[in-house]
Amino acid sequence: MPLKYKLALLTTSLILLLFIGYSLLQYNSVTQWMMDSQKDTLQRTAGEISGYFAEQEEPLNSEGLDESKRFMERFVQNDQLFRLLDSSGQVVLVLSNNLPADWIPVLVADKESITELLHGQDRLLVVRAPIDTAAFKGSMELVTNLENIDAMKNRLRSLMLTFGALGVIVSMAGGYIVARSLLKPLNRMASAMNVIKQTGVSGRIGYRNNGDEISRLSSLFNEMMDELERSFNRQRQFIEDASHEFRTPIAIIEGHLKLLNRWGKNDPAVQEESIAAAIEEIVRLRKLSDQLLDLSEETQYPNQTDSEPIDPERIAIELIRNYRMLYPQFTIEAKLTKGLHINVDGHHLHQLLIILLDNAIRYSAKNHYVKISILDVGEHVQLSVEDKGIGIDKKDIPFVFDRFFRVDKGRGRNEGGSGLGLSIAKRLTEKYGGEIRVESNVGLGTKVTLVFPLL
Ligand SMILES: Nc1ncnc2c1ncn2[C@@H]1O[C@H](COP(=O)(O)OP(=O)(O)OP(=O)(O)O)[C@@H](O)[C@H]1O
Ligand SMILES: [Mg+2]
Repeated sequence: MPLKYKLALLTTSLILLLFIGYSLLQYNSVTQWMMDSQKDTLQRTAGEISGYFAEQEEPLNSEGLDESKRFMERFVQNDQLFRLLDSSGQVVLVLSNNLPADWIPVLVADKESITELLHGQDRLLVVRAPIDTAAFKGSMELVTNLENIDAMKNRLRSLMLTFGALGVIVSMAGGYIVARSLLKPLNRMASAMNVIKQTGVSGRIGYRNNGDEISRLSSLFNEMMDELERSFNRQRQFIEDASHEFRTPIAIIEGHLKLLNRWGKNDPAVQEESIAAAIEEIVRLRKLSDQLLDLSEETQYPNQTDSEPIDPERIAIELIRNYRMLYPQFTIEAKLTKGLHINVDGHHLHQLLIILLDNAIRYSAKNHYVKISILDVGEHVQLSVEDKGIGIDKKDIPFVFDRFFRVDKGRGRNEGGSGLGLSIAKRLTEKYGGEIRVESNVGLGTKVTLVFPLL
């Protein structure tokens, strides 16, 4: 069931409940009050008649009876009856105003009473009281027809029913209109979302920013879509870049294999060159696929709390020894502080330093100089790799951590880089709560620093 119907139904039932409760209360108290005042009046009249008899000193004769009849006539109003009975139950006097005497059975009362009596459709209220005075001994009956009260009750009832029904209709319509106008923006949102679903992530919801919940929801949705679009575009860019990176080595391998196929079978020189070139490209491909795996969202790096504290000096020393062997033409200087501990997985620190050392060597130009340092700076450990190579232009520094970014696309390719090293390094460093900084001057050299919290 749509929300607007639910809301309309809810408001209607609430209003109806309230109305029924209030009406019942009002009906009961009004009728009760009318009944009470009716009884009061009747009893008061009976009291006054008793008073009259008490005042008479002589026993009533027929003359006195006539006189008292005139007196009583003032009391007996429309729809009322007065009856005087002597002590043997004989009716002595009847005064009736539009109320037949035979509707009420004659009863001698020995004490005052008030009773209700039904005669057909009519409800009658009867007050009986004994009279024991010097003037008269017997009893009286004072009766009033409750017709008026009952007519009033009926009228009240039908009025309430009419207004109740009217109230239900009005509150239902009102509830529906209010609910619909409240939910209209939600419906607009839903159809906008539907359009977005069909047309793609670039769609947005139009809304008026009036600070209500709906506009907050719309703005949140739009922000979410912005984020989604950004990540969608990043993903697409990543796939484009990755396939582009794969395409070149594959094309080179293909070219060499075709060359081998056509000419190389009998020419050992072609054979050797092509096989060497193909192997080189395959190594590049393997490295690329390893790097992509490192970067992919699925291969999450282990939680930093899992790793044992390590001394970066130990890893640096081992790496320096290897690099000195691999690149004898390089001067690799080391300035290492001993005994510092950081909370980074040994394998990852190794990977990080290799990324930095590879860059320092790859972009060193003619200045074959690399310096590694490990410094204790207060709460942190700084690991830096510095070279005196070609440097990076100031405007390019912010982008070196982007995936596949190379300062000079052509240069990178020839040198064998795919532009993933530093983005991997950044992700890894940040996983461990660290920070990576690049300082560089074109033609003078580059210094890349990793900062980790000291344990
Ligand atoms: N020490 C450096 N000196 C000069 N330029 C550098 C240095 N380190 C990085 N760069 C520049 O930043 C770019 C990005 O470096 P990054 O290590 O991410 O990728 P890469 O070295 O090109 O490829 P990969 O490391 O994935 O093999 C490099 O292409 C290079 O232009
Ligand atoms: Mg690199």
